Amino acid sequence: MSAPSHLKSHMTDAYLNRRTFAIISHPDAGKTTLTEKLLLASGAIRLAGEVKAKGDRRRARSDWLAIEQKRGISVTTSAMTFEHDGVLFNLLDTPGHEDFSEDTYRTLTAVDSAIMVIDAAKGIETQTRKLFEVCRLRDIPIITYINKVDREGRDLFELLDEIADQLALDVSPQVWPLGTGGQFKGCYDLAHDHVLLPADDDVSGAFGKTIELDSVDDPRLDELIGADVAAEAREEMELAREGYTPFDLKAFREGTLTPVYFGSALKEFTVAELLRDIGKFAPPPGPQQAGAEEISPDDDAVSGFVFKVQANMDPNHRDRIAFVRICSGRFKRGMKLKVTRTGKALAINAPIFFMAQDRQLAEEAVAGDIVGIPNHGALGVGDTLSERDGLKYTGLPDFAPEIIRRVRLDDPMKSKQMKRAMIALAEEGASQVFTPVLGADFYVGVVGSLQLDVIEARLIAEYGVAATMEPCGYDTVRWLGGENDADVQNFVAKNQGAVAHDRYGAPVYLARSQWEAGYAEEKNPRVKFLKTRERT
Ligand code: G4P
Repeated sequence: MSAPSHLKSHMTDAYLNRRTFAIISHPDAGKTTLTEKLLLASGAIRLAGEVKAKGDRRRARSDWLAIEQKRGISVTTSAMTFEHDGVLFNLLDTPGHEDFSEDTYRTLTAVDSAIMVIDAAKGIETQTRKLFEVCRLRDIPIITYINKVDREGRDLFELLDEIADQLALDVSPQVWPLGTGGQFKGCYDLAHDHVLLPADDDVSGAFGKTIELDSVDDPRLDELIGADVAAEAREEMELAREGYTPFDLKAFREGTLTPVYFGSALKEFTVAELLRDIGKFAPPPGPQQAGAEEISPDDDAVSGFVFKVQANMDPNHRDRIAFVRICSGRFKRGMKLKVTRTGKALAINAPIFFMAQDRQLAEEAVAGDIVGIPNHGALGVGDTLSERDGLKYTGLPDFAPEIIRRVRLDDPMKSKQMKRAMIALAEEGASQVFTPVLGADFYVGVVGSLQLDVIEARLIAEYGVAATMEPCGYDTVRWLGGENDADVQNFVAKNQGAVAHDRYGAPVYLARSQWEAGYAEEKNPRVKFLKTRERT
């Protein structure tokens, strides 16, 4: 029996205070520093000293570090939950260094907004761009944080124009730096007429020191930061206000406008303002697409999907943790949910919440929440879990790998075992396997190179198969599609040497470069060359 409507809304609207987001950036732009400062600003962690050294910093972030070190691979903390001012923030990690992988892309299918961190000296870099494109697939709202203004960087307007031009977004500056590099004095919160100043003279520790001014013309600004810096900043702020788009919540939420915060994560500038505005502007969980149907977050039936599977957190056990984004209903520990793919019911007795400092049993969860579900292989990436029969969330595609290797077996007799192992590993979602139409080779495709080492190590450790991954001349994969199946078949027949099948039997084109893939696309207008593929 369903609850009366007044009670129903009371029970299910808890999701409205959830903000489920990720940080997208290029390595070294400052994602780790910003993450920690957000946790600090929220009060989830307290000791600034904890985050000083790189080693300690990682430890503060991940209690799985011992496993990472022992195995020489990076597993990373995939999700982190913290609370501030009545808002529950679920921050999903997007590994960006050597551990950059397809998981990084797929995580972006489980968030409602993203913070794009840009290094003020570098502007938009390759990885930021790639991640942004994945966000754009779903028009995810983006908040831009231009970091490291305490160092010499590029012209501020040039940076704003680069975002506008390269990403086709309207930019709306919210916080402006007062001087940059050696002249950096603080920031100005344009929307609130606040000046943000350091707590002491060395321009560090901005938390807590804000001074309200009447406007940027308030003469106190000259006293606070010096007449020269103030004059220049005033001029810039006037240009910024005139030259860029005023903030518009609707445009932001539709993914066409990005509010921009200049700051210094290291010196804690504009982190508190960023956190405040994620809470204020970023959207709560919305409806999720399941084929032609849209499932509302306040739908009574509990449902969610697996966006990541983390295996071998304990190398002695073949346990896995499936990270599930709850999409509707009110999940309770001990519930039985059906896995749509297998039709099997799963009793969820030990779901985990990943709080900033520790893990907790998840007693209850609502839309937007991330729960980790330990299992022995019952859950795979892309699976839907639900109280309803036959529900299948869509919009969780496979992403074209960017590194392709031929798998060479040390013992050719073990080829069957190897195939089985590779497919099992691919099911976790961080790698893909392809069988070429011609020849007996077997290819593996990944997004980041560390996955290759992980696969080699795990083939030996878990399956007793020794193999090497060698270059095969290809570096681009495109799934083949089109209105007319005959066109695809025709292309496959004519290009057998460069066609393979993924593990579901779907044909892919293997190209030696992105340019070659583009050329093939141009020459074969009736065939679609796709960078993502939704499994059916
Ligand atoms: P990532 O996770 O995006 O890869 O970047 P991370 O936070 O690790 O930052 C990369 C480097 O940039 C670090 O320096 C960090 O201290 C520095 N950094 C981050 N934010 C700022 C900022 O606002 N201003 C300045 N000046 N530097 C910043 P490192 O030398 O590589 O590491 P560490 O030894 O200092 O920790």
